Amino acid sequence: LSPGLLAGRHVLITAGPTLEAIDPVRGITNISSGKMGFALARACRRVGARVTLVAGPVSLATPRGVERIDVVSAAQMRDAVLRAVGDAGVFIGVAAVADYRPAEVSEHKIKKSGGSGLALELVQNPDILAEVAALPNPPFCVGFAAESRNLDEYASAKRLKKRLPLLVGNLIQDGMGGESNRVVLYDELGRHPLPAASKDEIAGGIVAHLAAMLANKQ
Ligand code: C5P
Repeated sequence: LSPGLLAGRHVLITAGPTLEAIDPVRGITNISSGKMGFALARACRRVGARVTLVAGPVSLATPRGVERIDVVSAAQMRDAVLRAVGDAGVFIGVAAVADYRPAEVSEHKIKKSGGSGLALELVQNPDILAEVAALPNPPFCVGFAAESRNLDEYASAKRLKKRLPLLVGNLIQDGMGGESNRVVLYDELGRHPLPAASKDEIAGGIVAHLAAMLANKQ
């Protein structure tokens, strides 16, 4: 990757899971280490971008030179993204945002009810990426799709539904939690598989592809 590939660009990235509180000590979350999003933040920074990283609850060190905003819930992630997106030329949604949150958060710890079950009412969270992609003057939007099967079909459908120029798909069993991954890039020209590699190398491949697409747009 050439050192100035994204010089002068502001890249906004979401990473990690979100946690939707049920009560003060419990919540609903997705399993996500945040490693892929942090690797992308490093890769973008390395090629000269200004990087803002909105991170859900993860235990990862902040990449050098990257502005990090820590959030917990999807609502907080959305607020942070909408505040920062104004001057971003690129938005990469890597976060595993919880699709639902409890309709109400209990102020106090919920007690066992003595034998009977507990029903939680859930409401849907906003889709941050779809919302950014639908802005009047949107940044170049990149989405991620982690699927357990039918990757080509589901990933291509997601790219079109959310109106994204580029979507990165992977099978959950290939990437989750580990240091390596195997991804396929989907754009209007079709599918572009990248070789299985470390998350840092894959981030480099994604950045190269997205920089080429940005260069073609101008
Ligand atoms: O539809 P699905 O959740 O699989 O889409 C994944 C992509 O959408 C990821 O890029 C993820 O960061 C983004 N997303 C989002 N807000 C949501 C759900 C997903 O930004 N509420």
